[in-house]
Amino acid sequence: MSTKTKKIDQSEQFCIDTINGLNANPKYLSSKYFYDQTGDQIFQQIMDADEYYLTNSEMEIFATQTEELAKTIALNGYPFDLIELGAGDATKSIHLLKQLISDEMDFHYLPIDISENVINLLSETLPAQLPELKMKGLNGEYFEMLKEAASFSNRRKVVLFMGANIGNMTPEEAAHFCEDLRNQLMDGDMLIIGFDLKKNPLQILSAYSDSKGVTKSFNLNLLRRINREIGADFNTDKFDHYASYDPISGACKSFLISLQDQQVMINGESISFNKNEPIYMEISQKYNLDEIDAMMTGCGFKPVKNFLDAKEYFVDSIWQVG
Ligand code: TRP
Repeated sequence: MSTKTKKIDQSEQFCIDTINGLNANPKYLSSKYFYDQTGDQIFQQIMDADEYYLTNSEMEIFATQTEELAKTIALNGYPFDLIELGAGDATKSIHLLKQLISDEMDFHYLPIDISENVINLLSETLPAQLPELKMKGLNGEYFEMLKEAASFSNRRKVVLFMGANIGNMTPEEAAHFCEDLRNQLMDGDMLIIGFDLKKNPLQILSAYSDSKGVTKSFNLNLLRRINREIGADFNTDKFDHYASYDPISGACKSFLISLQDQQVMINGESISFNKNEPIYMEISQKYNLDEIDAMMTGCGFKPVKNFLDAKEYFVDSIWQVG
């Protein structure tokens, strides 16, 4: 497939998904479209926000428990492919990559990201920092690229899925995802997966409605992207951001709220918004260790080891197939 046809398909899909979501009741938008170039930049600012503890917690795990992490996936030194789903800027995984290189492990690093931007950037920055690293970046959706990664070699696979990205699925979707993942893997393959843990509800809520309004502009950026790429006339001043957290279910949800009755033209179609009508943007699901265990063993994974930060805010959990 040429890059040109692929681009047309992706933007058509963006248009279809957007119009379907905004004609639904309740309205929703798909968070996979958050990450255009500006979205990537605002997301970096979220990760730097004081209230956003997730990145620091997972960074602590990767920066301080690196040797043990590397030892756990080394499995007597058998060569492997390290496949990272949603690699981002790899600032956390780079600790593990460095450790694996200094342990003289025989591995290839295959980062997958939905953002073309991110993959291009990684393909420049990582080889500059780690000249010994064998890597191949893959731009696309997780499962499509996972198949490509699986056909890349018959070495065993270690899949890295960090950043609490699993939390951006409902628990049902997450269980399906882990089942699908398990079905793509072979006996002995491993999964390192990051979950944000249930904790003080106020702390969770403030991470998703930070005082500087970064999460707000991250959500509003999707409306701007729709304006630019699909042709729409959203006025972002007429929408506000609202986050909620339910400490029982562990669901933290983001919404945009229409501040008035309004009509928005999208690709020639007029869509009405009532005053105070929400657009559901994204879930960031929180779990406890028992819930994680039940979900993962239910999908056919065996527990290997949990790595928590000192405050026990976050877990990177290692599982094995077989
Ligand atoms: N997966 C992370 C989380 O749930 C990062 C993230 C995705 C995020 N979408 C977000 C953070 C929206 C803030 C707002 O926290």
